[in-house]
Amino acid sequence: YRRLRVALLGAGAVGSQVASLLLRHGDELADRAGARLELVGIAVRDVDAPRDVELPRELYTTDAETLITGADIVIELMGGIEPARSHILLGLGSGADVVTANKALLATHGPEIYEAADRVGASVYYEAAAAGAIPIIRPLRDSLAGDRVVRIMGIVNGTTNYILDRMDTEGADFADVLADAQRLGYAEADPTADVEGYDAAQKAAILASLAFHTTVPLESVHCEGITTITASMIEEARDAGFVIKLLAVCERLDGDGTESISVRVYPALVPRSHPLAAVHGANNAVFVEAEAAGSLMFYGAGAGGVQTASAVLGDVVSAARRHIAGGTGVGESTRANLPIVSIGHVMTRY
Ligand code: HSE
Repeated sequence: YRRLRVALLGAGAVGSQVASLLLRHGDELADRAGARLELVGIAVRDVDAPRDVELPRELYTTDAETLITGADIVIELMGGIEPARSHILLGLGSGADVVTANKALLATHGPEIYEAADRVGASVYYEAAAAGAIPIIRPLRDSLAGDRVVRIMGIVNGTTNYILDRMDTEGADFADVLADAQRLGYAEADPTADVEGYDAAQKAAILASLAFHTTVPLESVHCEGITTITASMIEEARDAGFVIKLLAVCERLDGDGTESISVRVYPALVPRSHPLAAVHGANNAVFVEAEAAGSLMFYGAGAGGVQTASAVLGDVVSAARRHIAGGTGVGESTRANLPIVSIGHVMTRY
């Protein structure tokens, strides 16, 4: 097999699992990708930092730039805007395809990154940027490209679903369950991003951009978190036949002949009989309604290192196949240019 040099940026919960799987399943991945995926290095801030997953020490480097410029595939799993943005642009500029799970970056600088990729005929893959292990980016971008998505309702944050679920089923206390979610590796480094809905809003911006073929800036996503939800609200909801879920709703609005879209994240009352009510723990689910396909539901692990690593590795295999075959960049179609109206709650049916 031809050898492709893979550079990994970041060795956190997801990064360390990606490295471990790449090393363990090298032969199998080579057969699938049609190329040997050689992990040439892992860029980290501190080579000696304690890590949960044991990896060969010589792979670690603090010199991200040198690692990136020598790579065919760059996997960015550092998170945050900088230096992730500059590293990705450097990778694309030096001929690499990029795999990233960086929802914050894509939700704020997506168009810049996709255009940079298009300019050089490279690709950016980001299946792991929304809903962890669940395949949802490819279905929206590829499988449903011939249809017309009208609405997405998603539970796209594992931490808040885990918290709300334990509050609902055990009457647990918010602070205690948040600490458990952090210990289990579901929560972001700063869990405010989870509980205030920012993480879900970033994912909603990414999903809505794909679903409606437009660019949805993060600022236009209405966002409310779960910090105001109390045990008694959960109880009241239960008595009324509902469960409270943090939903990301992305939908086309038809204001008497004027079409626009609305993207919003907020705690919603979900009827207990709805499939989204059955999503427990740190799982995620994305309920998609399309004109021709009807209702589709994508379900699975929305957070967790090894689970999210599955989506990252799928992207790495795709990147390797494309790299071998040549071909053009996979840019995003953002031609629809729909007006976006995400002002609080919109009166629509669930
Ligand atoms: N903190 C995120 C969550 C991780 O809880 O869903 C996955 O993006």
